[in-house]
Amino acid sequence: MANIPSGNRDSFGSKFGVIAAAAGSAVGLGNIWRFPLVTTQNGGGAFLILYISFIVFIGIPVMLSEFSIGRRAQLNAFGSFKKLAPKTPWYLVGFLGILTAFAILSFYSAVAGWTLEYLVQAISGKLLHTDDYVKNFADFSTDVYRPLIWQMVFMFLTAIVVYAGIKKGIEKFTKILMPVLVILIGVVVVRSVSLPGAAEGIKYLFVPDWSAVNFKTVLMALGQAAFSLSIGMGTLITYGSYIQKDNHLLRTSSQVALADTSIAILSSLMVIPAIFAFSSVSIDQMSPGPGLVFEVLPAVFKAMPGGVIFAVVFFFLLAVAALTSTISVLEVVVAYLKEELGMTRGKATIIASVSISVLGVLATLSFSSLSGFHIFGLNIFDLLNFASANIMLTFGALFIVVFVGWKLGKSNFLDEISNKGEIKSVLHKIVFFIIRYIAPVAIGIIAVAALFIKGLT
Ligand code: TRP
Repeated sequence: MANIPSGNRDSFGSKFGVIAAAAGSAVGLGNIWRFPLVTTQNGGGAFLILYISFIVFIGIPVMLSEFSIGRRAQLNAFGSFKKLAPKTPWYLVGFLGILTAFAILSFYSAVAGWTLEYLVQAISGKLLHTDDYVKNFADFSTDVYRPLIWQMVFMFLTAIVVYAGIKKGIEKFTKILMPVLVILIGVVVVRSVSLPGAAEGIKYLFVPDWSAVNFKTVLMALGQAAFSLSIGMGTLITYGSYIQKDNHLLRTSSQVALADTSIAILSSLMVIPAIFAFSSVSIDQMSPGPGLVFEVLPAVFKAMPGGVIFAVVFFFLLAVAALTSTISVLEVVVAYLKEELGMTRGKATIIASVSISVLGVLATLSFSSLSGFHIFGLNIFDLLNFASANIMLTFGALFIVVFVGWKLGKSNFLDEISNKGEIKSVLHKIVFFIIRYIAPVAIGIIAVAALFIKGLT
């Protein structure tokens, strides 16, 4: 049933296109503003070893689970569960994914919009003529209109790509943008590691400090690995449904994970040495997130010879990294509306982006007019961030591995990832073992812990 060719359904046209799109989803703000600091502050090389182990032993199997669900069903995240497990409530997992996409995109687009403001500030020269970067960011983010306008611009850019479809939109853009992103990061890395004092930063980043590792660090490494690969919400199920039947899914998952991890490490080489060379604030006192990219780094660029150019390049690459992620989230909702509610791609794109923007407005306004409005002690932005990254994504990932391990089952899974027995690999059975027994326990622990500890993912 599941392998019926789906007629003229849009799909990725090339292997590189699949990798560019999926790596584009994975490589985002998490790689650039979280990974470098989280790694440096939690044991450097020791954290890196844990992180890479989690990517390999948990991340790749979960990614493979999502790809195999989507490719087998040839449908959106919701429809996939309905088709593979008819007359059961498993479709609720797909529905959770659609909701998660809504929640993530509403605050992610706010932040993505900020990168455009900073790009413009960098180009106009305003950024490097500022003295107080904390005030500069506070002035901007508490403004009512400017952040909203940028957020809408960003949603519009996202919508244009998604509207153009899979081959002609998402694949075409990510195939250009991902290599551009790598080159631009490379440019900033070369500058950063050649600064005086950079060696100190590189050492701090890579030399393992096992004394900094504890239970929370281990959970953080797993949380960061899962968030970074964009697993747990159906993005990769949706993309998987556009992957051709002859694609070697295990190889593709490994290549995407390798690209994501390499870019995270490159981002660290871009950010950490420069901070060591120029920042007056100690790295242990910084927290990952907006403060790093909108307050600390502008000051670093200002102090750096040729900093204007690097500031422009940096904010441009940040916007590119965010865009290739936002399109993958919007596509989750668009594919759902299109296939489950019978809308055209155009209509689905408009409805999805407008309704997400409405929630996004609330997220953005939580820094200005709605700053006094709190639910469970969090403003709307923080609430959406916490609910989606900490809770919805981790439970989503948990349900997905349980689904593949216990419902879809070994023979269906092996049939799908081996392309009906064509690819023979001992790894396939090992991966299934992980999906069935190990991943649910590991993700289950983090899902429960993430309810209580903020900042795990
Ligand atoms: N992986 C993205 C990053 O590193 C963030 C992210 C998490 C994401 N889940 C997602 C992006 C789903 C797109 C879709 O920033």
